[in-house]
Amino acid sequence: MLVPDSGDNTVWGYITLMCSEIKLGNTHTLDDCEAANRYSDFPSVKIARLAVDHRIQGRGYGDALVQFAVFIARRNIMPRIGCRFLVAESKAGALNFYQRIGFTVLDTEKNKQRRLPVVFIDLNKLHSD
Ligand SMILES: CC(C)(COP(=O)(O)OP(=O)(O)OC[C@H]1O[C@@H](n2cnc3c(N)ncnc32)[C@H](O)[C@@H]1OP(=O)(O)O)[C@@H](O)C(=O)NCCC(=O)NCCS
Repeated sequence: MLVPDSGDNTVWGYITLMCSEIKLGNTHTLDDCEAANRYSDFPSVKIARLAVDHRIQGRGYGDALVQFAVFIARRNIMPRIGCRFLVAESKAGALNFYQRIGFTVLDTEKNKQRRLPVVFIDLNKLHSD
């Protein structure tokens, strides 16, 4: 949750995560694990809810919340549970935001036609903290 230092009860933003998977098909090749390429579905963490109060949008808080989710996935989830990708189902208005901060749109016609297209980040391809 994004809350002010002042300690009042305002919630300025939040992000929630859930277990998920992504069906990559042949859209994305894992070059660090040849054997994994015979699978089409990969375990993932999904951004279930993400929002920043409209009064403070555009100041980097959405990006910071997603970076926090990446941190949790890499630090707390990946060492214990199979998990390779951070995924989201993007509202039309948020697609440019996700791409701007490093997500890839799943490259299938079906996905591009979806009301909420799937976007993803390969958590193994990020620089170490
Ligand atoms: C999407 C949302 C979380 C972004 O939060 P934010 O705090 O405004 O985003 P940031 O300020 O961290 O933006 C990060 C980058 O994305 C860009 N960006 C943000 N929103 C954008 C948009 N709608 N279109 C294009 N670019 C956008 C910013 O310009 C910034 O780029 P920069 O680093 O080059 O300046 C916020 O707009 C929101 O809560 N929207 C309503 C709910 C929603 O759509 N949630 C997503 C559910 S899928």
